[in-house]
Amino acid sequence: MADFIGAVDQGTTSTRFMVFDHDGAEVARHQLEHEQILPRAGWVEHNPLEIWDRTQTVIGSALTSAGLSSSDLAAVGITNQRETAIVWDRRTGRPLHNAIVWQDTRTDSIAKALDQDERGQTIRHKAGLPPATYFSAGKVQWILENVDGVREAAERGDALFGTADTWLVWNLTGGPRGGIHATDVTNASRTMLMDLTTLDWDDELLGFFGIPRRMLPEIHASSDATAYGRTSGDRGSAQVPITGVLGDQQAATVGQVCFEPGEAKNTYGTGNFLLLNTGTELVRSSNGLLTTVAYRFGDADPVYALEGSIAVTGSAVQWLRDQLGIISGASEVERLAAQVVDTGGVYFVPAFSGLFAPYWRSDARGAIVGLSRFNTNAHLARATLEAICYQSRDVVDAMAADSGVTLTTLKVDGGVTANRLCMQLQADILGVPVSKPVVAETTALGAAYAAGLATGFWSGTDELRAKWAEAERWEPEWSDAQRRDGYAGWRKAVERTLDWVD
Ligand code: G3P
Repeated sequence: MADFIGAVDQGTTSTRFMVFDHDGAEVARHQLEHEQILPRAGWVEHNPLEIWDRTQTVIGSALTSAGLSSSDLAAVGITNQRETAIVWDRRTGRPLHNAIVWQDTRTDSIAKALDQDERGQTIRHKAGLPPATYFSAGKVQWILENVDGVREAAERGDALFGTADTWLVWNLTGGPRGGIHATDVTNASRTMLMDLTTLDWDDELLGFFGIPRRMLPEIHASSDATAYGRTSGDRGSAQVPITGVLGDQQAATVGQVCFEPGEAKNTYGTGNFLLLNTGTELVRSSNGLLTTVAYRFGDADPVYALEGSIAVTGSAVQWLRDQLGIISGASEVERLAAQVVDTGGVYFVPAFSGLFAPYWRSDARGAIVGLSRFNTNAHLARATLEAICYQSRDVVDAMAADSGVTLTTLKVDGGVTANRLCMQLQADILGVPVSKPVVAETTALGAAYAAGLATGFWSGTDELRAKWAEAERWEPEWSDAQRRDGYAGWRKAVERTLDWVD
């Protein structure tokens, strides 16, 4: 019997493959970045072929590094950057355009137009999402309208659409030689095309974007023993069943074992994504959050979540490094920010792609406010870390207002949680303890859990829950007055960023 589960984590900046044992402990990993293609202001693309190539490389090298082969894997799970839209030719496997990434704002006019009549409300009600550039459907519409021949190919059934999970499943299962064209409920719930109650593509929503149904993958559960097939076994490797597929933030929710209503996690990556399990009940937000599918295991009822999506958090630190050059590596921001005891009155609102939750303002643009001659790079570094935490405070407050659930602890994961100063600031700004698990790679772990549940590798959620252990915890240290005044300043700074572009 194969002793391990593999997980592909296809993220916004890199793709990794990890192998876990029965205890949920990491056995191997390899990770490779891919190019961020920025053709104009506001546009962000990826090359799907580069992503597929990187995926094959990291799978091979992670296995080799641990002296394993594909026959040691009982199953594979796939998790991915969500919303990013890929359209390709079924016959050749060639992309018909670069992937349009979730951060890309070129579809602003498409999103705005939907909100000028009752279509916006229909999308909110059926899909649980506000019309925004963030989600896939407008991106697919843009490709259909702007790339020669794609609409005709789509109507003939030759152009396929998928998010990164679908692209990888199709390629892993044979590509043009009969690859499986499928997605899971969590990824489908980010397109603006799926009805959250039927868990199927909705003809009215498809009509809003002019998207032919033939382009779309079949929707399955996030954990399913057969729907996603097996890897094609090319180059003499074993055919491994693909039995888990889910969006990366939902995977992190599973990896953090947030299986009960009221349990939440916050993942700190390029953006931040806070998900609160609301159980089998679909909670509609009145406070700027998304309603989304958290996971569906096999034939069980789907579990829903409220989500606060923040576009720019870790990528604001990258901006300090790449655009301003005030740090040479992301890890340096902690050292620089620790040189000062506070931000010296500075607030940085990194609204580079407008503001996502809870504001949903595509007209916002970034601002650094409160500057005086006294301020230094160190204040800006500290204000960047605080911005990560204040944005999370915005969505925590919205969540409490929507759900009536007040967080008692915030479970965290993701790259930025290595920054201890940032995690301390998060506890200070929220006024609740922040807790980080031993296995910080919760996204890949969650995909592995979904895959392993489908095959019986793990018996059920109780077994998974018992594996979660805390590694570090941060307690709030700020006074109530400090917290209140700091947050009031943040809200004032956010106001300054609104209405910046038409
Ligand atoms: O919704 C976007 C999210 O899935 C991206 O996550 O970790 O790839 O930046 P990440």
